[in-house]
Amino acid sequence: MLPTSDTFDDCEFRIREASHADLDKIIEINMKSLPEHYPRYFWEQHIEEWGKIFLVAEAPSGIIGYMMNRIENDEGFFKGDFVLRGHVVSIAVLKEYRRRGVGKALMLEGMYRMKKIYGAEEVVLEVRVSNEPATNLYRSLGFKVVRILRRYYMDGEDAYLMAAPL
Ligand SMILES: CC(C)(COP(=O)(O)OP(=O)(O)OC[C@H]1O[C@@H](n2cnc3c(N)ncnc32)[C@H](O)[C@@H]1OP(=O)(O)O)[C@@H](O)C(=O)NCCC(=O)NCCS
Repeated sequence: MLPTSDTFDDCEFRIREASHADLDKIIEINMKSLPEHYPRYFWEQHIEEWGKIFLVAEAPSGIIGYMMNRIENDEGFFKGDFVLRGHVVSIAVLKEYRRRGVGKALMLEGMYRMKKIYGAEEVVLEVRVSNEPATNLYRSLGFKVVRILRRYYMDGEDAYLMAAPL
């Protein structure tokens, strides 16, 4: 039994799988929160292929955050040469709902599902070296910097490649 709640909890949000009907709102949150955007078909492809790990956080007011993930067979940083890896493609929480545990709840549920449903052994992500809120969140979940990706972003900023065992 997966721990996704069917009711809003004390903090007034719940985590659930995203659906196509949620995409307009998810894309709106992405546009407001991050400089990295994607064509609609990219979001749709992730719902169709990895729908069990495409999650939203929903409050009574509607969707307040999302986490879009994929599964890859790639280099392992902890458990062997090649492993099934979960990849956090994009995560964001609306500004007015930040610092209430929503990002952490999305990450914990996403990582649990990567392992439980898809058999992933590790999880990786890229994050701007200047993004302190996000790097703090990932470190608090056991992620380590495994590589620096020079000029990874369009504006020339470096990324940390961070990874954690699942
Ligand atoms: C990164 C992000 C998703 C975190 O979401 P959130 O719901 O605010 O995070 P949480 O409330 O669950 O925070 C969990 C922990 O992360 C760290 N953290 C979160 N925001 C932080 C901030 N502004 N400054 C420092 N640490 C922070 C803290 O360790 C925090 O634990 P604490 O509140 O007990 O101290 C959110 O800031 C966001 O949407 N940012 C813009 C989009 C983005 O940068 N996405 C990541 C791209 S890689």
